[in-house]
Amino acid sequence: MQAIVQDRYGSPGVLQTRDIAKPQIADNEVLVHVHAASVHLGDLILMTGTPYLMRMATGLSKPKIRVPGTDVAGTVEAVGKDVERLRPGDQVFGWCTGAFAEYARAPEDHFVKKPASLTFEQAAAVGVSATTALQLVRDEGHVQPGQKVLINGASGGVGTFAVQIAKAFGAEVTGVCSTNNVELVRSIGADHVIDYTREDFTRSATRYDFILDNVGNHSMAKTRRALSPTGMLLSNGGGHQGGKLGRVIKAAIVSMFVRQQGRPSVKTQNPADLQVLKELVEAGKLTPVIDGTYPLRATPEAIGHVGQGHARGTVVIALIGAAA
Ligand SMILES: NC(=O)c1ccc[n+]([C@@H]2O[C@H](COP(=O)([O-])OP(=O)(O)OC[C@H]3O[C@@H](n4cnc5c(N)ncnc54)[C@H](OP(=O)(O)O)[C@@H]3O)[C@@H](O)[C@H]2O)c1
Repeated sequence: MQAIVQDRYGSPGVLQTRDIAKPQIADNEVLVHVHAASVHLGDLILMTGTPYLMRMATGLSKPKIRVPGTDVAGTVEAVGKDVERLRPGDQVFGWCTGAFAEYARAPEDHFVKKPASLTFEQAAAVGVSATTALQLVRDEGHVQPGQKVLINGASGGVGTFAVQIAKAFGAEVTGVCSTNNVELVRSIGADHVIDYTREDFTRSATRYDFILDNVGNHSMAKTRRALSPTGMLLSNGGGHQGGKLGRVIKAAIVSMFVRQQGRPSVKTQNPADLQVLKELVEAGKLTPVIDGTYPLRATPEAIGHVGQGHARGTVVIALIGAAA
């Protein structure tokens, strides 16, 4: 099968399209014929091997995982003998290792059936970024109906999900983005949109109960001034160019002394949250925003684009229906 293979860390050129063997499944696993996969900042971190600290998990001198990609949608091709819920032919989405390939495998509980309302490209986009947004808004922001929520970086991978999820939880949502994305952020449900090229939200008179900062372009102290007395700031920055790890560490230290600063944490995908996201989609409360689709061989360009920090929603790799 065709797959993106990575032997070393570096620039997009380290990702090569090669013919490799189809994955073999274990008894509890499902083999998925990949229709689409999506790109998130974790793919950039795995490609570059930066911040270097991340190599403790991904492999010190070279990546432990040779085929990158985690977020996936496709058709079940085969199932192991202990698989109970899924059958060949089922259309599914979820997460795996090695999504940037024609076939991928993972345990059965990493997948749920794809809602009929979503294309494979949209379903593949409901991955790490959506899970991160859900966990930040629900578990850390504890967002309640009527609260004022501000999402900085509202037009990106995490932001487009966070705006919709905060709305689904009944919040009054303000999204911050650049001029080009004002209409997009409004269209996904934001009650108010601030164009950061014209207005600095940290200087506005409005006070927010929860600020999710996906960007880190203002100091944390300045950003906290836009909070209500009981409000909380979550600084979710850190991924682009691997250069913002210092900010995450600072946020972790400040959170020990300052009540309004939330503690950063790494978000992980899990079956329960995948189900919650599926239900939000089925209820018409969550629709992935697709920045664009790339064929498999253009995965390096797709990851490079995400690395520029101006994606509009989620970047998708389309394998079926595109020249893979
Ligand atoms: N904790 C975790 O486990 C976890 C998981 C996933 C991601 N993250 C972190 O979440 C952050 C966001 O990730 P992402 O995937 O959403 O990134 P992304 O898709 O690249 O989006 C970044 C967004 O930031 C916006 N932006 C750039 N400069 C801005 C500014 N000055 N003011 C306001 N918005 C600005 C861009 O919009 P414009 O084009 O309009 O400028 C873009 O939409 C990253 O730092 C990443 O590391 C954390």
